Amino acid sequence: MAEDNILNRFEGGAVEEDKAVDTSKKIKYGIIGTGWIAEAHLKSLKKFEDVEIVALADLIPGKAEAFAEKYGAGNVRFYASGKDLIDNEKDLDAVSVCTYNMQHCPCTVYALEHGVNVMVEKPMSVTLEEALQMQKAEKESGKVLSIGFQPRYDETVKQVKKIVQSGVLGKIYYVQTGGGRRHGIPTPYGTTFIEKDTAGIGALGDIGCYSLDFVLNALGYPKPLTVSGYTSGFFGKKADYLGKPEYVDKFNVDDFGAGFIRLEGGIILDFRISWAMHMDSPGDTIFLGTEGGLRVPATDAWANAGGDLTLYHNVGDKPVETVIPLNENRGDNFDKKLRAFVDSVKYGLEAPVSSDEIIYNQAIIDGIMRSSAEGKEITLDL
Ligand SMILES: NC(=O)c1ccc[n+]([C@@H]2O[C@H](COP(=O)([O-])OP(=O)(O)OC[C@H]3O[C@@H](n4cnc5c(N)ncnc54)[C@H](O)[C@@H]3O)[C@@H](O)[C@H]2O)c1
Repeated sequence: MAEDNILNRFEGGAVEEDKAVDTSKKIKYGIIGTGWIAEAHLKSLKKFEDVEIVALADLIPGKAEAFAEKYGAGNVRFYASGKDLIDNEKDLDAVSVCTYNMQHCPCTVYALEHGVNVMVEKPMSVTLEEALQMQKAEKESGKVLSIGFQPRYDETVKQVKKIVQSGVLGKIYYVQTGGGRRHGIPTPYGTTFIEKDTAGIGALGDIGCYSLDFVLNALGYPKPLTVSGYTSGFFGKKADYLGKPEYVDKFNVDDFGAGFIRLEGGIILDFRISWAMHMDSPGDTIFLGTEGGLRVPATDAWANAGGDLTLYHNVGDKPVETVIPLNENRGDNFDKKLRAFVDSVKYGLEAPVSSDEIIYNQAIIDGIMRSSAEGKEITLDL
């Protein structure tokens, strides 16, 4: 295949059309947990004329009220917990679960059991068992459960999937991915990311889930079969890495994780993620196939692309490299994630990011944690 033909196949980025919104029915919406990410949810939801934000909940007294005041939530009712909100808001259509990870499962299950559609933030949960409970509640309720991976709307993420799915790489047998920060343990808003009681998992759940979604989504979410994992937490014990010395005694999650995962279809996934390390990046994302290879240059965080993609292939018997320029993003990916969820609720569509897929993401994270604790490879039974 000539080089320009290959390029033509992957040309063309976002074409955003302004869709008319039917405002005859307003989706009554609540937000559970009014911390850092809830602001992004509120900002997006406020743009939608067919959404009415009716209620906010937070465990910390006065936090939801201060949040509403600061970001202009409008005329909303306040509750002391997600459960309280669900119990009292009888006409509620949907909630965003924006709590720390340990509360994703109880809040999501309670909402679904009470007939409320759920957008839950990433990672889906802390353990695989929790993710399975959430999925069971979703299937039994017939409501929508979508998981908050806004990079799905990123043009690079879509382009990588298009290339991988095109067959141009042949049979894919090996994928390397992950990412990492050199000095980036998240503590600007307190300790909810670094304590087991609130976060449950560290870098693996915070940014590792994004790297995993990046490649698994491109591959079509093959089932993971076995996991050999490693986690450590050396840097969270250093005051200068946390910003505040008083946090050192609180840190008890992973700040580095790695895994060697066998996927259905004879694909090996080699993955690593870090919040802190003495290295700029643990490497690019690469896909190796029998007909071609794809390099996605690393970023300084988790996955996605730090530059143009390169396709390695042969023309005749000559090795050729084709640079595939990145497509431009248009619009805001967070808006797109919430718009797709609201549409799925409104029109009875499939969840935009489904539990059927993300269960596999969570199974890998859970497998890495268990394998690391037990010091041996784990067989997943999904
Ligand atoms: N998609 C993204 O880009 C993105 C970015 C940052 C964080 N996140 C995810 O969002 C989640 C929240 O992160 P954050 O930084 O906003 O955390 P945060 O600690 O700032 O806020 C969480 C809030 O939830 C409240 N809460 C916990 N349990 C509750 C319950 N049962 N009922 C009501 N309120 C409850 C807490 O009191 C807290 O105020 C995490 O899971 C994180 O991984 C996603």
